[in-house]
Amino acid sequence: MAGSAANLEDIHSVDLMTELLRRMKCSTKPDKRLILVGPPGSGKGTQSPIIKEEYCLCHLATGDMLRAAVAAKTPLGIKAKEAMDKGQLVSDDLVVGIIDEAMKKPSCQKGFILDGFPRTVVQAEKLDEMLKKQGTKIDKVLNFAINDSLLEERITGRWVHPSSGRTYHTKYEPPRVPGVDDVTGEPLIQRKDDTAEVLKSRLEAFHRQTEPVIDYYVKKGIVALIPAEKPPKEVTTEVQKVLSS
Ligand code: AP5
Repeated sequence: MAGSAANLEDIHSVDLMTELLRRMKCSTKPDKRLILVGPPGSGKGTQSPIIKEEYCLCHLATGDMLRAAVAAKTPLGIKAKEAMDKGQLVSDDLVVGIIDEAMKKPSCQKGFILDGFPRTVVQAEKLDEMLKKQGTKIDKVLNFAINDSLLEERITGRWVHPSSGRTYHTKYEPPRVPGVDDVTGEPLIQRKDDTAEVLKSRLEAFHRQTEPVIDYYVKKGIVALIPAEKPPKEVTTEVQKVLSS
């Protein structure tokens, strides 16, 4: 306790006040447990930070977590790499384990956005079991619906700032300086699986393994359709409409 008080003394007053104001704002927000589902490039990762900020939720993106494990060459990363490079899904047990652990973080106290999970019906069933143990359940599933033909341009034009997850697009959301993150000035990268070739396998996995997950939640009556082919700001408006209803 004494240690944490001493640490707080070292934090600038402006930062402390900003955090205090953020927590006060968050205390008035309803808890939300959300799933974002949609094919690669449908805009899940673009909309998640906006929803996270508005509702004080944690953003759990299994793809980002797996890429971090691959980069750090952890045992999990070594197991996941081959499937990810080919655009196939990694095993259910691996991703269920990382989500179970991640949901315990204090930043998930007001709820979470699951981005890229569950991606199979088995994962959805295991998630239900986890939540049942905590006495909670999923409130809403946002189905980012978009025609496959629009996705190649989105995926091959994407540039990412690896440490923050910020995403740009050469045509739709270009950085101020090409190849450079607007906030930090650090270099942007292209994901290894963001090629037209690997996209074909990722889409195949989506239609075969993940679309049944949407049906799973349709039966529970909690799916909202998001027209994801609209421009980013219009998609944000659609998301806000669904979440405020
Ligand atoms: P993951 O990282 O989850 O990739 P994904 O689902 O394929 O989704 P993306 O991140 O590609 O798309 P997004 O919808 O977030 O699009 P974004 O907003 O960036 O998974 C990668 C791999 O990890 C999988 O293949 C698998 O191997 C493994 N994996 C992950 N989770 C797993 C699980 N649960 N089980 C098993 N394996 C798992 O947008 C794309 C681009 O378009 C951006 O450049 C953006 O600027 C632009 N854009 C966004 N919205 C718009 C718009 N409205 N109009 C125009 N441009 C837009």
